[in-house]
Amino acid sequence: MLTVIVGGFFGDEGKGKIAGYLALTGDYNYAVRTGAINAGHTVVYNNRVYRLRTVSAGFVNKSTKLLVPPGALIKLDVFFREVEELDVRDRIYVDYNTGVIEEIHVAREREDPVLRAIGSTFQGVGAAMADRVLRRLRVAREFPELREFLVDVPLVVNEALDRGEKVLVEGTQGTFLSLYHGTYPYVTSRDTTAPGILSEVGVGPRRVDHVLVVFKAYVTRVGEGPLEGELSVEELEKLGWIERGSVTGRLRRAAPFNFKLAERAVVLSSATCVAVTKIDALFPSARGVKSWDKLPREAREWVEEVESRLKRPVVLIGTGEQLEDVVDRSRDLGVEL
Ligand code: IMP
Ligand code: MG
Repeated sequence: MLTVIVGGFFGDEGKGKIAGYLALTGDYNYAVRTGAINAGHTVVYNNRVYRLRTVSAGFVNKSTKLLVPPGALIKLDVFFREVEELDVRDRIYVDYNTGVIEEIHVAREREDPVLRAIGSTFQGVGAAMADRVLRRLRVAREFPELREFLVDVPLVVNEALDRGEKVLVEGTQGTFLSLYHGTYPYVTSRDTTAPGILSEVGVGPRRVDHVLVVFKAYVTRVGEGPLEGELSVEELEKLGWIERGSVTGRLRRAAPFNFKLAERAVVLSSATCVAVTKIDALFPSARGVKSWDKLPREAREWVEEVESRLKRPVVLIGTGEQLEDVVDRSRDLGVEL
C-alpha cells in the first residue's frame, strides 16, 4: 500500500506533522522523503521539536525504515548531523544516485541575481539541480562516507509493495512552488506535485493507493511571488498567523484559505483525499481536540465546505503542534491510511 503526501499551497502546510502521524498510527514499513534541504519539515513529538531537512518525519516510528530516493538532494554535513541527532543510522538508506550538494553550489547561488529576486533559500539546491541536468553533479555512490547507507531505493520500494507492505512517500514544498505548475519564475527547482514526487522515488502512478494533499487553514508563502489576498503583518498579528521559515527564519507572508488554488492542487495531483492543518488558527476552541464530535460546530461546517468544494474527503484535521493533535476521520470515511 502506498500513500503519497503532497503540499497543496506554497509549502509549510504541515506535511511533516501529517507524515509523522501517519507513520506512527498507520505503522508504515517505509517512509521516503523526497526533495532537498531547502525544505524544512517540523515535527513536535514527546515534547521535542524536530526540524527535518533530509530524514522523513516517519522517523518517529522506530520500526519504520527511512529512505532517501534518487531524485532527492542531500548535503553531507546536514545528512550526518540529522542521522546522529535522530539516531537513525541503522535504519536509513540512500539511493546510489541521490544527488549531493556541495559548498560550491551554495556559493554559486549567493551570487545569482535571479535567485535573489525570487527570494531563494540559498541552500544550493537549484545550482545542484542545474549541475544534475548538465550531468556534472556528483551522486551518493561517489562518496565513500555514504557507502554503508547505499541501496537501490526504487527496487526496495517496489518490492516492499509486492510483499503487501506499506510505503509512505513524503513530498516537500507545495504545489504552487512547482517548477512546472507553480507561479513561475517564483518557484523552486523541482516539480512538487504527486507525479514529480513519484518520479523522484522511482515508483509508477498505478502503484499509488492514496494521494493525500495537505492544506493549512490559511495560506503562507516565504520569499517573493504572487499571494492573492495577502494580509499585512498587523493583521497577521491580530489573527495569530505569524510564522517564521524553519530553514531561513524569514517571516512567512500569509493570506486566507484559497479555494481556487486548493481546487487546482487537487486536480494537479489527482488527490484522493485531503488533510487540513492548523484549524485551531481559525477556531481557537478546536485546539487540541482529537475527535470530530468535539470540534466546535463552525469548525465542522468549515471542514464540510472544504469537502464539498474540493469533492474529496477531509481525512485528517490538525488541531495543534503536537503530533497527536489530530482529528482522524479516515476510518469513519472509509479511507484506510
Ligand atoms: P529555492 O528553491 O530555495 O531556490 O527557493 C525558491 C522559492 O521557493 C523561494 O520563494 C523559497 O522561499 C521557496 N521555498 C523553497 N523551499 C521551500 C519550503 O520548503 N517551504 C516554503 N517555501 C520554500
Ligand atoms: Mg517548511
